[in-house]
Amino acid sequence: MEKREKIYEGKAKQLFTTDNPDLLVQYFKDEATAFDGKKKGIIEEKGVLNNKISSRIFEMLEKKGVKTHFVERLSDREMLVRKLRIIPVEVVIRNVAAGSLCKRLGIEEGMTLKEPTLEFFYKSDPLGDPMINEYIARAFGWATDAELGQMKEAAFRINSILSEFFSVRGIILVDFKLEFGEHKGEVLLGDEITPDGCRLWDKTTREKMDKDRFRRDLGKVEEAYQEVLRKVME
Ligand code: TMP
Ligand code: ASP
Repeated sequence: MEKREKIYEGKAKQLFTTDNPDLLVQYFKDEATAFDGKKKGIIEEKGVLNNKISSRIFEMLEKKGVKTHFVERLSDREMLVRKLRIIPVEVVIRNVAAGSLCKRLGIEEGMTLKEPTLEFFYKSDPLGDPMINEYIARAFGWATDAELGQMKEAAFRINSILSEFFSVRGIILVDFKLEFGEHKGEVLLGDEITPDGCRLWDKTTREKMDKDRFRRDLGKVEEAYQEVLRKVME
């Protein structure tokens, strides 16, 4: 497999074509952003840690029958993935109230929800990923009804698998964001599953082990990502 030209650069990753038109190389950077890119920084070795964390989680999900873009981890910062037509609708699942949900509703962080929730956001950096619903997604042709159905079903299934996976490792999966894309007529899970896009709290101390440490200047950011890697490898 030969890595060729860069076709995309996002805030945390780059994508390269390969000699196989169906496959891309996903490269993980150390750059971290928050608040729609208004806050910028570097989390040392984040690219290496996130590539390893995401690879481990995608492998585990694949074993449980979840269809993802993951093929294999190639190096410290690179993974081989299937090329997707990204569906510009992000899915956020929550188990515990935190972040924008608390802001929007004026509630304190930390309440365990009676059942997991699902929200859709339109993937647009210039607009700051506004919240949308299924009617909007269908009306603008961002996703079909069938795709939205598959995304919802996959997201809740992934939530059950991941909540248990983290729970036995002493971590609460508070919330997380997923992106999906179409590959050869199938909807696959894309992007990454890392502390950049999940809220992870220590079960006993409730200490944050995710990008909120960077967003809220809590310190010990690298250490938290390293600890998550150590736990997911158990
Ligand atoms: P929120 O509480 O800010 O809406 O975030 C919910 C979850 O989604 C949280 O785990 C962080 C993740 N997320 C991203 O990965 N990218 C984003 O752009 C946003 C806003 C949230
Ligand atoms: N990733 C988004 C940004 O760079 C939002 C976030 O994670 O807080 O702004």
